[in-house]
Amino acid sequence: MNADFKLNGKTVTTERLILRPFALTDIDDFFEYASVEGVGEMAGWRHHENKEKTSEILENFISEDKTFAIVLKETGKVIGSLGVERYSLEDKLTEFQGYKGRELGFVLAKDHWGKGIMAEAVKAVIDYLFLECDLDFLVCGHYDFNRQSCRVQEKCGFRPYRKLVMDTRIGTREPGVLNLLLNPGKDIRLSFSHPETLVWE
Ligand SMILES: CC(C)(COP(=O)(O)OP(=O)(O)OC[C@H]1O[C@@H](n2cnc3c(N)ncnc32)[C@H](O)[C@@H]1OP(=O)(O)O)[C@@H](O)C(=O)NCCC(=O)NCCS
Repeated sequence: MNADFKLNGKTVTTERLILRPFALTDIDDFFEYASVEGVGEMAGWRHHENKEKTSEILENFISEDKTFAIVLKETGKVIGSLGVERYSLEDKLTEFQGYKGRELGFVLAKDHWGKGIMAEAVKAVIDYLFLECDLDFLVCGHYDFNRQSCRVQEKCGFRPYRKLVMDTRIGTREPGVLNLLLNPGKDIRLSFSHPETLVWE
């Protein structure tokens, strides 16, 4: 089942990064990376064509209180986001009924790709969710074409769990993979034999 989760002002720090809740003053940094074509598209959303769009999403981030802003310590700029989302298909993934979990979703400014930044952020958030929030499992998905996201998830310990077909927010339908990571501090036994493809509506 989906765990209850709110950031509640939480800050997580890593060697190069500060992860903290978004603020309205982040709009310029957010627009700067979200308006670049080919970034959001890899995660299933269209790049922002104007600041009104960014403002709308930013307000959602703030009110829903489940998405970390990724701040580069060196510059103080917000260079990405990491969301602790509710996972979909709760009714179909019945093997998780007795366990508490969430789904991670992330995006990084294109100028910062290839430096291991997202894995650094994701690993720190995994530690926070497993050690401090006591979650049992995390899922994370990617479209088949998104090798970059696949690599980040592999490097953070996620392993393929189910094949999926997902409807994107840009009107396409993409095959993909749902990855799973169990809390290693708990004795969780699930059946891993699920050959069927799930459709993510
Ligand atoms: C996915 C994403 C967050 C990865 O972040 P990152 O910090 O660049 O990740 P890494 O530095 O660990 O690189 C991951 C892989 O990307 C590839 N890569 C490296 N530099 C790259 C570059 N400049 N351009 C494209 N791919 C690159 C490499 O294959 C690398 O794997 P490796 O570690 O085995 O070499 C980032 O690419 C991104 O924001 N993409 C767009 C949004 C997205 O896809 N979100 C996830 C949705 S599921």
